[in-house]
Amino acid sequence: MEYETPLFFRVMQYASQADRDVIDMVSGNPDWEPPEALREGLREYADLESAAFQYPPSAGLRELREEIAARRGVDVDQVVVTNGAGEANYLAMARALERGRGDEVILTDPVYPYYPGKTTMLGGTQRFVPTDDAGQIDPDAVREAASEQTGAIVVNTPNNPTGAVYPEETMRELVAIAEKYDAVLVSDEVYDHYDLSGKFASALAVDSDNRIVTNAFSKSLSITGFRVGYAVFPPELVEAAKSRHMLVNVAGSRPAQYAVLQALQETDPAYYEANRELLGERVDTFTDALEDTGAEYTRPDGAFYVMARFEGYPGTLENVFRLIDEAGVAGMPGEAFGDSRTEWLRFALVTPRVAEAADRLAEYFG
Ligand SMILES: Cc1ncc(COP(=O)(O)O)c(C=O)c1O
Repeated sequence: MEYETPLFFRVMQYASQADRDVIDMVSGNPDWEPPEALREGLREYADLESAAFQYPPSAGLRELREEIAARRGVDVDQVVVTNGAGEANYLAMARALERGRGDEVILTDPVYPYYPGKTTMLGGTQRFVPTDDAGQIDPDAVREAASEQTGAIVVNTPNNPTGAVYPEETMRELVAIAEKYDAVLVSDEVYDHYDLSGKFASALAVDSDNRIVTNAFSKSLSITGFRVGYAVFPPELVEAAKSRHMLVNVAGSRPAQYAVLQALQETDPAYYEANRELLGERVDTFTDALEDTGAEYTRPDGAFYVMARFEGYPGTLENVFRLIDEAGVAGMPGEAFGDSRTEWLRFALVTPRVAEAADRLAEYFG
């Protein structure tokens, strides 16, 4: 897969220019409210002294890093606050590749397209390991693909686009494979608060100098526009990552970090539970409708996405545009996620119009 502007933007642009009403199931922007404490934090910030409007520490506000470290059970020095999980993944992959152990990056197929894009951008080579139909990854297949050439193994759980949640044993084995070749397992856990299965296992559970965990508040606090994420590095990899972060960004956004800290400190677990419940209801609504159309589909164990395969309607960009024009539903082409899902379309369930979209699809394909 090439290093180019992600397809996502082209689909969004096409949908916004359509001359009919289109339900957006393209983006991963949650449509539910951020916690009230986050809004309060922002309001409060506007009245702080002018010093608060200047650079924060490059690695992130100390109190926010402490809060993250306490929640994740790691040392505060291992935490770098980033511009979303996007930058966290970039720092992690760059760190893995610049160690000079190997330039190959093992990725899953299907894959979140930014990983192959980043791999190429960083001068690495992509190597894909197919998942099974449910999106699960077989550690033996990863073991077979791994070699002295392996610089990184990048995975995402709960997964975009398959909805798979990897069991603890998989995470453990992936870390062991990374250790064997002195490569780095990068585990992107940005959907950890949307585990619908109760089986989510963070790679942090496996202590190792060969794994980096990335995450963000973009999805968990419904603030993809704030750009606050983080990576947890092993002690010997963290300093160079902090330098790269500083050279690229100087620092992250101070008001955004302040508001996130306030939200973390004051938000009740019920907030996250309610959002999970809402998502679970939408999964039911959408997959029930797909069942009625006779489509094949994935039932996600986590994250925001359902993949569907309609007979005679492959997941090409052209068909996505056609679906926008003829059915008024915008999804993502499966081909954007790799060779294994070219027959599929991906729909994001972060719109209040899930039931209406399901009706439109049922009518169009029914
Ligand atoms: C798997 C995955 N990782 C990272 C990101 C980007 O997260 P952020 O907005 O925090 O940069 C996304 C966004 O959709 C994602 O799906």
